[in-house]
Amino acid sequence: MTPRLSLPTHTFREQGSIPGATGEFSRIMLQIALGGKLIARDLRKAGLGQLLGSTGLTNVQGEEVQKLDERANQIFLEVFEHQELVSTLVSEEMEKPYLIKEANGKGKYAVFLDPLDGSSNIDVNAPLGSIFSIHRLPGEGFPVSEEVLRKKGCEQVAAGYFLYGASVLLVYTCGHGVQQFTLDQEAGEFFLSANNLHIPKRGKIYSVNEGNHQKWSSGTKKFLHHLQELDSQTGRPYSSRYSGCFVADVHRVLCKGGLYMYPGEQKKPDGKLRLMYEAAPLSFLVEQAGGLGSTGVAPVNQVTPQALHQRVPLYIGSQDDVRKAEEFLQSESMT
Ligand code: AHG
Ligand code: MN
Ligand code: MN
Repeated sequence: MTPRLSLPTHTFREQGSIPGATGEFSRIMLQIALGGKLIARDLRKAGLGQLLGSTGLTNVQGEEVQKLDERANQIFLEVFEHQELVSTLVSEEMEKPYLIKEANGKGKYAVFLDPLDGSSNIDVNAPLGSIFSIHRLPGEGFPVSEEVLRKKGCEQVAAGYFLYGASVLLVYTCGHGVQQFTLDQEAGEFFLSANNLHIPKRGKIYSVNEGNHQKWSSGTKKFLHHLQELDSQTGRPYSSRYSGCFVADVHRVLCKGGLYMYPGEQKKPDGKLRLMYEAAPLSFLVEQAGGLGSTGVAPVNQVTPQALHQRVPLYIGSQDDVRKAEEFLQSESMT
């Protein structure tokens, strides 16, 4: 049997093969992994304690905050409290960036978080995720303004997600392919379970909340209709799968191909998903696996953020499928 490769061994080994690498990324990754393990532990026991249900509060997005959203956010704050590399956390659950005291203005990195993704799945024991994105800050010290934090997705140093499903996965990229790790719950450690994930060029599955169909533009409606047409030569109709958890749906796309979309709507042209801690990190990761992340008119990771909690329409997955979506959306804007 081949010996298993743990996350610490893997990241330190990778670091050894990159000239000039300082080990900073490995240390940040291990802190993030600790956060994922602690969240996974709480999720396993959530139904037994007082962790289910709503806090009664709404977040900066105007969305109801579940107790587990708050708990997951708190876990990441605790995990990063006692280190000096990351000076700033930006989270879906916090209106303003959180500055880490112990980093004392010296931390060179900012971490963007969706601490718990797919919150509507909490009460029904369906899959959940966490998303992270790491950016390097210019110079040292706390960012002097939010503007410094509004970095394009193409500037990410690393990005990834945890998927809390039948097993707990950590999937990430630091710009050299996509690796997948599986948590051995008893050992409390992640082990490499897939190396250099590659997304098929074209898939057979689409993932979208079709209940919103009437709110979409005609281009999006026509694209969906295209996917549902009968055409055995091009493998249509596609199958439909939607879990209500972005991470879980994108993970399926990453493994099997196809696309996930959260289109803009007539009254919400930017759709629902947040650029800096949902769309950008998963677009970086999917692109590292050979796929694409698009707003329908431009690559997600070329968008210059105007605000930390900005939303963007998203079409993400296999190259051919995302290109086809763009064709439909762009021909609409020309008519
Ligand atoms: P979050 O729980 O972090 O707010 O994200 C929810 C997102 C995403 O996980 C999912 O794909 C989408 O919202 C579901 O939204 P709809 O219920 O509108 O389909
Ligand atoms: Mn989310
Ligand atoms: Mn969330």
